[in-house]
Amino acid sequence: MSSHGAPIPMTSRACGPLNGTAEVPGDKSISHRSLILGALSVGETTITGLLEGQDVLDTAKAMRAFGSEVVDHGSGSWSVRGVGVGGFAEPENVIDCGNSGTGVRLIMGAMATSPISATFTGDASLNGRPMARVTDPLALFGTQAVGRAEGRLPMTIIGAADPIPVRYVVPVPSAQVKSAVLLAGLNAPGKTVVIEAEATRDHTERMLAGFGAEITVEDTDEGRKITLTGQPELKPQHIDVPRDPSSAAFPVCAALIVPGSDVLVPGIGLNPTRAGLFATLRDMGADLTYENERTEGGEPVADLRARFSPNLKGIEVPPERAASMIDEYPVLSVVASYAQGQTVMRGVKELRVKESDRIDAMAKGLRANGMEVEEGPDWWIVTGRGHGNVPGGATCASQLDHRIAMSFLILGMAAQNPVRVDDGGPIATSFPIFEPLMQQLGAQVSRDVV
Ligand code: S3P
Repeated sequence: MSSHGAPIPMTSRACGPLNGTAEVPGDKSISHRSLILGALSVGETTITGLLEGQDVLDTAKAMRAFGSEVVDHGSGSWSVRGVGVGGFAEPENVIDCGNSGTGVRLIMGAMATSPISATFTGDASLNGRPMARVTDPLALFGTQAVGRAEGRLPMTIIGAADPIPVRYVVPVPSAQVKSAVLLAGLNAPGKTVVIEAEATRDHTERMLAGFGAEITVEDTDEGRKITLTGQPELKPQHIDVPRDPSSAAFPVCAALIVPGSDVLVPGIGLNPTRAGLFATLRDMGADLTYENERTEGGEPVADLRARFSPNLKGIEVPPERAASMIDEYPVLSVVASYAQGQTVMRGVKELRVKESDRIDAMAKGLRANGMEVEEGPDWWIVTGRGHGNVPGGATCASQLDHRIAMSFLILGMAAQNPVRVDDGGPIATSFPIFEPLMQQLGAQVSRDVV
């Protein structure tokens, strides 16, 4: 089932060279944070380039429910009139975050230290994902949570009326957990400290600094230590959202595996906490270059140029790179299928608790399409067959996961036989223009006539 309606089966098949410019949408992580921090500032924040995918639209709706005025001015241009730190109103109804783990976890953090309650729910994927990783640290502020067994949604969060600041060592590499604690710390008096052993995406820290919060980051023996001083007055900003590297991954990887391709993907955010895939592809022998490197809105940005790469080789992906490419392993496993030799991916336990169990979802679909995949609790290995040798021909379950659906559709673009996904509906959560954008490059990908 699609998260918002009937399933949309889709098929992709081998095509001629992919050529042209792929203008992918705005960054999903930065888009969520722009709306939430805009809602917590005093005055009007303006945003351009906002990702208008369903996940972000659900966060916009939630910010309205908490009392801020969120206006869509068209073409990715939005404004948010914030209510200030601690100014959230109690929502009148249940907050439905759809498919979005980032949305629900960050919003829980943002409301956790205000004297209000809110009940959160989502689709079948989100309601199966662990929330204790967020509600455990929020409890340290004095926040209460009542949900289903094993900390699943639907869940009611009762905000702490007299929050106390916390010191929290994040036990899993998760930017969502880190961000939830920092957003809760905004309305706690004194200093909230978050320590992460492995650096995860740092958009929250960068953006909090941009909105005028007092926040410091130091490298310590325990890891990356972030100290936030609570109860600031956040000042509204203009945010120009860079294009999403996690979405850029799809046209980039397609260009690498489709013979003769040459694709430019302009204006991609290359924050080092996000760009691990591109380094890995280069290590595999990909013809991938950064052009016109620059800084936009405090984030490093470049135009990516990807060309067909006939001599891709499997590699052992450095596990310490995992956090910086965590959402890209599904599509990496597709490129690995077209490489010679094994691609070994270790230290990736977190893949099992994303929108789907992504190791399981990719292993099943790749095997059905003729590939050899081995897996363990926190690792998997794809044995590549080299260009021209990927059989394809199977239907894959997208498991309510946008990145699984898109990855299999990329697989089909160079396979011997078409590859089908049972539901391309979830693609709309993060990359609503995936189908026309890939078609415009020359891909043969479309919805099945049912
Ligand atoms: C995100 C963090 C990551 C990532 C997700 C977006 C964010 O999740 O997988 O797509 O915007 O903070 P985790 O924090 O669970 O690793």
